[in-house]
Amino acid sequence: MSSTSRSPHPGDCSVPVHVAIIMDGNGRWAREKGLPRHEGHRAGMKAVREAVEGAVESGVEILTLFAFSTENWQRPPDEISALMTLLQLYAEREGSELKEKGVEVRVLGERSRLAPGARAAVERIEDSTRGGEALQLNLMISYSGRAEIVRAVRTLARRVASGELDPDEVEASHVEGALYTTGLPDPDLLIRSSGELRLSNFMLWQLAYTEIHIAPVLWPDFTRKDFQRAVQEFDSRERRFGRVVSST
Ligand code: IPE
Ligand code: IPE
Ligand code: MG
Repeated sequence: MSSTSRSPHPGDCSVPVHVAIIMDGNGRWAREKGLPRHEGHRAGMKAVREAVEGAVESGVEILTLFAFSTENWQRPPDEISALMTLLQLYAEREGSELKEKGVEVRVLGERSRLAPGARAAVERIEDSTRGGEALQLNLMISYSGRAEIVRAVRTLARRVASGELDPDEVEASHVEGALYTTGLPDPDLLIRSSGELRLSNFMLWQLAYTEIHIAPVLWPDFTRKDFQRAVQEFDSRERRFGRVVSST
């Protein structure tokens, strides 16, 4: 990884190293067409391909997609099982093409909660794409920012209880080291589709200084052009990280 936003430098932006996306609006897309919600999720898979293409074409190094939240387990069982089936299909069908493109896939979240078939398929796609150097694609599944932080706190509490870590020496880097995203730079740019203006429990730690782009389109209509638009707009942002950038 060529750069890290863990030691951010204020100033003008160029191409974001790490882009995260809250893929939202599948249900509304389906409703607008008089279709069941799962058809919206199915159509959303095409938009995932578009986002991956957009990221590779733009020179983005890491793409993190919010695919299924911890809270999404509270949706109706038939919608959850449709989503698990789609995840499995995506992992089974896309592996060879992603490998060819040099995309390395990782699944981050509570993978033990996934349906067994989906879990096996994501483990296969992780194995088969390992070492891809064009793009790291993180699929956040059964993930939420608060659950991730609680998990990190438990890890650190165990280290403190065992005497390995002094509580007074706990730093941000220890917390980062216990997150699913350990070793990755924070997202430079967050895109949320469907016009919603909230984080919905996504990457609460990592988004501290991330630039936000709200795309009005529903996720199934999201194309590589929308991705490129967000990246171009990012180019005009001035990031300050709480500091003063230029003297006036
Ligand atoms: C995003 O679309 C996909 C998931 C959360 C799994 P939604 O299913 O949230 O679609 P809307 O927001 O209801 O339109
Ligand atoms: C966020 O979307 C989760 C994913 C995109 C996976 P939601 O549709 O679940 O979020 P809310 O309920 O609108 O906040
Ligand atoms: Mg939604």
